Amino acid sequence: MLKRTIWCGEVTTEDIGREVRLDGWVQRMRDHGGLIFIDMRDRTGVVQTVVDPVKTPDTFKVAEAVRSEYVLEVTGVVRHRPEGTENPNLATGEVEVEVANIEVLNTAKPPPFPIANQVNIDEMVRLKYRYLDLRRPEMQTKLFLRHRVVKLIRDFMDARGFIEVETPILIKSTPEGARDYLVPARLYPGQFYALPQSPQQLKQLLMVAGFERYFQIAKCFRDEDPRADRQPEFTQLDFEMSFVKQEDIFELMDDLFTEVVEKLSDKKLKFQKPFPRIKYHEAVERFGTDKPDLRFGMELYDLSDIAAKTEFQVFRGTVESGGQVKGIALPGCAGYSRKEIDELTEHAKTFGARGLVTVAVTEDGVKSSIAKFLTDGQMSTILERAEAKPGDLLAILADKPATVANALGRMRAEFGRKLGLADKNEMAFCWIVDFPLVEWNEDENRWDAMHHPFTSPHEDDIPLLETDPAKVRAWSYDLVANGTEVSSGSIRIHRRDIQAKVFELMNYSEEEAQARFGHMLEAFEYGAPPHGGFAPGIDRIVMLLTDDDNIREVIAFPKTSTGVDPMTSAPSPVDDAQLRELHIRTVED
Ligand code: AMO
Repeated sequence: MLKRTIWCGEVTTEDIGREVRLDGWVQRMRDHGGLIFIDMRDRTGVVQTVVDPVKTPDTFKVAEAVRSEYVLEVTGVVRHRPEGTENPNLATGEVEVEVANIEVLNTAKPPPFPIANQVNIDEMVRLKYRYLDLRRPEMQTKLFLRHRVVKLIRDFMDARGFIEVETPILIKSTPEGARDYLVPARLYPGQFYALPQSPQQLKQLLMVAGFERYFQIAKCFRDEDPRADRQPEFTQLDFEMSFVKQEDIFELMDDLFTEVVEKLSDKKLKFQKPFPRIKYHEAVERFGTDKPDLRFGMELYDLSDIAAKTEFQVFRGTVESGGQVKGIALPGCAGYSRKEIDELTEHAKTFGARGLVTVAVTEDGVKSSIAKFLTDGQMSTILERAEAKPGDLLAILADKPATVANALGRMRAEFGRKLGLADKNEMAFCWIVDFPLVEWNEDENRWDAMHHPFTSPHEDDIPLLETDPAKVRAWSYDLVANGTEVSSGSIRIHRRDIQAKVFELMNYSEEEAQARFGHMLEAFEYGAPPHGGFAPGIDRIVMLLTDDDNIREVIAFPKTSTGVDPMTSAPSPVDDAQLRELHIRTVED
């Protein structure tokens, strides 16, 4: 028959007396001697059905053979559950369907894990049987939410005059700082397409083409090691606008993310729009990172000036050699045991720190191995700077500025979570602005783009490109939420001469720049408008909304942390014939 008249999860007391037809899966079959109960599930939820051997003996025979995950079409009449048997935990818990007929549409092997929420299953097994894992209601909820996020974004962008343009997947390499996935070109032995790390160059060319407002829900591919918030392929809301300044992009995104959070989650915005803006250098100084979690304080404080005057050689020496001494106050940790402090120190060392100094602040004074090197005045200045309260454990590092920022920044993020300072119900967006245009690459002995080489320098800083590149500020910006970088973008260079200058700074020879980006340089000679754009990571947005720590939880068919797909066994070897056709030979080391 195959035409449901109602969804399982939507049967209510209003349907009592109605004949209904349900299509779905068997959540559970219970044979209670006299009666058989079959819980029927579809994507909306579960409803209980009951088969009576006396009223429907033939159907009862069919029901006896039914097992979990069989696919059934069930016809019957809705009735109130007998008093005392209602289930308040179920949306349909007041009713049940008295079954007249069952058609078995398909049988099923017993699944390797129960189709239920919060089951403790090995992730490899979940990914191998992802189609079963995705049957679990919590996974369905996540993908439905993801759909709604993308739908809201599409409607939002459309309403503001953006058009969605698809860009190719087989392109020429575009640099975003990761390795490219390459695709051999069969017709051109020894030549390759690259999968886009993002549609960056193409969206800029769409601006040259006069579209003014482009967006795309775009797949991006980057051959880098997966991490908790990183996949080799992921999705961006990629967009670009002409005749804009960064302020226009901020305004648009403040509106979009306010809508996403307010319409699609129960979370509260910690800051209303306009979201706060923090300069890159200030973020690193105050939070040790350019991705600060602003749901809580626990800011880094600088003790370098005091440290330089102490008798403690590690402090003094560090400051004398251009380093910094900074700390954070861990609330409620003053009672840490020797062992816990050792663990904390080891932890700091994994982020490059040489060691860690602690000061425990109690009602009766301070406890610290460095107390003997400091005057009372120095110690009380430290406590003042740290705004220390009894119960605080001050964790202090002396090292190169980058190491101090990295180690303390990570410690801050971790303790914010561990000590429950970060409220799960809050979403704290902020903009990070004024990034440096370039950073020095020690290994390659050259300047690298901090965002990407198409990012515009501040006009006032253009002379510094030749004299002091590290000081050049970029018109580039990140949107950060709860300690996660949600998005990056920039105002682009639209003039050929400046683009050429930036390529030169990055050590691209004229020929190299021509070979890699000749099409961009040429396009800029045909009236490229001023333009800029942005690219929020869809996976990361959904992950923040669902409170997941792992990006795989919000992607239908993700790769594992080692980049494989246990379901299809990709990547996998291919036939020799296929390789020959592509002019490729594999070599054994
Ligand atoms: P960027 O490289 O910073 O900028 O990427 C933008 C956003 O994409 C998401 N993202 C990822 N998500 C999951 N897995 C990954 N491997 C991954 N890499 C990036 C993040 C990030 O903030 N073309 C520029 C944007 C522009 O300038 O318009 C770009 O791609 O959320």
